Amino acid sequence: MPVGDEKRHGERVTAHIAAAIDAAGGWLSFEQYMELALYAPGLGYYSAGTHKLGTSGDFVTAPEISPLFGACVARQCADVLGSVVQGGILEIGAGTGRLAGDVLARLESLGRLPWRYSILEISADLRDRQQRHLAERLPHLIDRVIWLDAPPAQEFDGLILANEVLDALPVRRFCWTGGQAQEVGVAREADRFIWAKGPAASGFAEYCSKLRAAGGPWDEGYSSEFCSRLGAWTAAVTRSLRRGAVLWFDYGLPRAQYYFPERRNGTLLCHYRQRAHEDPFRYPGLEDITAWVDFTLLAEAALVAGFGLAGFTTQTYFLAGNGIDVEMQRVAAGDQNRFARLANEARQLMMPGEMGERFKVMAWMRGIEMPLAGFALRDVRDSL
Ligand SMILES: C[S@@+](CC[C@H](N)C(=O)[O-])C[C@H]1O[C@@H](n2cnc3c(N)ncnc32)[C@H](O)[C@@H]1O
Repeated sequence: MPVGDEKRHGERVTAHIAAAIDAAGGWLSFEQYMELALYAPGLGYYSAGTHKLGTSGDFVTAPEISPLFGACVARQCADVLGSVVQGGILEIGAGTGRLAGDVLARLESLGRLPWRYSILEISADLRDRQQRHLAERLPHLIDRVIWLDAPPAQEFDGLILANEVLDALPVRRFCWTGGQAQEVGVAREADRFIWAKGPAASGFAEYCSKLRAAGGPWDEGYSSEFCSRLGAWTAAVTRSLRRGAVLWFDYGLPRAQYYFPERRNGTLLCHYRQRAHEDPFRYPGLEDITAWVDFTLLAEAALVAGFGLAGFTTQTYFLAGNGIDVEMQRVAAGDQNRFARLANEARQLMMPGEMGERFKVMAWMRGIEMPLAGFALRDVRDSL
């Protein structure tokens, strides 16, 4: 339970959202609610200062679990950087900076440093953490790293990386009622937020029918969500990549599986202090709110943004294809205890019940053509 300053911050966020609901006539779409809870300036989870990542924060990501993740990503980056001239990397949503540090360190040892490593980060406190982490760990490379408030204006060649960013994009929520989908949003009852059906928005029911055709049939009351801004957002953040690859890492499924009848309550998940739960109204502003990625939608977005779809696989196969076994030997450097720790971390990254299968990797590519090692062992584009 939040106490003290944290509790007061939560109350301010709640009051802000309540005022927005009142101003809108008593109802907000869930997308608007999620936007405010995560991104309201100075208040939202990602806009205001809380711990967020790491063992003392709310959740732990792959680069926080093990340096092996970044080492494998770096190997994939090295191949792409080798096929462009003066290649750079743009990372979106860099968390604590751990992935940036692991990727830069490994690329340096491979002799393939990018001329620039840009970080597009929305959170001021995470940006501070990234700057401190990289300045301490790689002081000799810090001049190559720049931070951006908006996608780069200048074109560049190389790569774009995003681990667990798409799942934080606000989503719209629906409920299948009386043979059609209705939008479900947020109203309030005294100091509490509650789910409430909203007015019919143009095109909404038709879009949900398309999802039902892919995954259904759905029973009465079936609820789920979709990310209506995914296409526009991904196009905006990748526009400046002239030649190279985009690697998206996140949890999610192809559309047909995402909207399976059995997944009756969608995929919303909130994270507070290492505990996951499904109630996005519990601690607005103090917890992460996420939804799985519809990877079929992300594949469609690639084409709209002017990229080719270059691969789709699970995290397990991506890491195996990029030599996680070799990286374990290299990082352990003959130390048996260290090797045992790394083997345990690799299990967390790759076990089907842990991150191995829930997490997927999708590659977009334009301006170059080359095989990507991360998709060589298994590429399931045909499941999209
Ligand atoms: C779940 S964390 C993942 C952090 C990191 N990639 C990792 O794997 O540890 C999400 C990150 O994306 C950032 N973020 C969220 N929405 C964003 C947006 N619209 N634009 C840029 N960064 C965003 C957050 O501030 C945070 O750094």
